[in-house]
Amino acid sequence: MKAGIVDLSEGTLVSDRVRIPTPEGATPPDVLATAKQLVELLGPDAEDLPIGVCFPAIVKDGVTLSAANVSHEWIGLEADARFSEALGREIHFVNDADAAGLAELKFGAAKGQPGLTIMTTLGTGIGSAFLFDGKLVPNSELGHLEHKGKSIELWASASARERDDISWEKWTKRLQKFYSHVEFLFSPDLIIVGGGVSKNPEKFLPGITTRAPIVTAVHRNNAGIIGAASLVLT
Ligand code: BGC
Repeated sequence: MKAGIVDLSEGTLVSDRVRIPTPEGATPPDVLATAKQLVELLGPDAEDLPIGVCFPAIVKDGVTLSAANVSHEWIGLEADARFSEALGREIHFVNDADAAGLAELKFGAAKGQPGLTIMTTLGTGIGSAFLFDGKLVPNSELGHLEHKGKSIELWASASARERDDISWEKWTKRLQKFYSHVEFLFSPDLIIVGGGVSKNPEKFLPGITTRAPIVTAVHRNNAGIIGAASLVLT
């Protein structure tokens, strides 16, 4: 888990990025305790600041509604209310890929982009954000499109490449399937690729063919933090 203080006029981190390993099992009480420690690590400058939290789940009206890679206790949890009460300030949860999409929308590759931009994050799962004419359409969950009866992220995410120990070339073919299907369904005007692997786009991006331009995210490691913080502006 990571945290930082964000300057929202520039979309940049103005503190160190503090980090504590995600507690085993990622149950809500343990994640909350870690969040508290992270805020303390940020020091007095963070004392009165509102907080945005990006989280790998569907988030609707402050309630977390799914749990693909975290404890099932998050399903149906009133996350905004629970965390606001415990941390004594306004807190808003947002899906992690939606947060990364917001960072690109306000301060990155999707800024000023008309039509539909689809942001995808390739990591443990596959996250997605739909950005339409400057607005986020939340909770798109493209990583759960089906492939052979299962979520495609189990086969095409960056962690699937590592788990299956396959070459970049083979993984690129899996990704191509994913992006072709997404493009067929939604005809986006721009596709953005984020997540840790977007640091090494030369390993896979030249092998992906899409009708729409496909580009890497501007914000990588800090996308979630910046995007979650930007919720304060909405
Ligand atoms: C979750 C999404 C999340 C994505 C990336 C998926 O398993 O369902 O909510 O955005 O992983 O973390």
